[in-house]
Amino acid sequence: MKSLAQQTEQDMSGAASVLSRQKRDHERLDRLLNRLGAAPADQQAPLLMRVYRLVFPHAFAEEAVLWPTLRRVLPDGELLTLRVEQEHQQINELVAELDGTAPDSSDRAQLLERIVALLRQDVRDEEDRLLPRLQDAVSPAQLRRLGWAWEAVRRIAPTRAHPIVSRRPPGNVLAALPLSLLDRSRDGIDALLHRGAGPATEPLRALSSALAFASNLVERLPGMRKGEDPSTSVSDKHLPGWRAAAAATVVAGAVLAVRSSRGR
Ligand SMILES: [Fe+2]
Ligand SMILES: [Fe+2]
Repeated sequence: MKSLAQQTEQDMSGAASVLSRQKRDHERLDRLLNRLGAAPADQQAPLLMRVYRLVFPHAFAEEAVLWPTLRRVLPDGELLTLRVEQEHQQINELVAELDGTAPDSSDRAQLLERIVALLRQDVRDEEDRLLPRLQDAVSPAQLRRLGWAWEAVRRIAPTRAHPIVSRRPPGNVLAALPLSLLDRSRDGIDALLHRGAGPATEPLRALSSALAFASNLVERLPGMRKGEDPSTSVSDKHLPGWRAAAAATVVAGAVLAVRSSRGR
């Protein structure tokens, strides 16, 4: 069993196979993390957004398409996939924490360091252990079919950290569409803010916060945690209740409405 790091595209059953697609993304992530590590703190936000847009849809599609397949075809698939799901969960929780930390907080550097270390560990676990096991268990044609399925889900998957939703179907599949719409709208707004939005800055900030609260609310809807292993579940006592999230969404919406009516 050879790590994907030592395999050519031909060894991995061609460019369309899920192994080649995974390795290409992992290499892009490595380059982005190197750039992030070299960037001064005040220039990290747009790079972090690019990391999130790469990592979260990638991992979401693994959880929805690849790990269920590994559980079906390998006798120890349950144990193998649970370990990476736990890594994904930790990354989701740390990124949610980082997003809630003030830009000038001294905690940011340490949080970022832990996130980067976990992302690199996740890549190693997948390239050295899980994906070579998948390669041994299924045919080259199946690897290519899985590649198309993984790619299709990745293109419509959420782009932000969502620590509350299940890391397994059916909860994560149910959550995918509403969270993806909210995340991708927020990405567009945040990109405008990073470029400098002039007088629209405040209303756009309020809109971005309202969308963040709305996705917080969606994460708490019935069914979104279905299928979860207890070890990847965020304890209820650490979460603000859905009523608090609903109230915050309404307040953010009202603030936005007042600001935009003043702006007219
Ligand atoms: Fe991966
Ligand atoms: Fe992963």
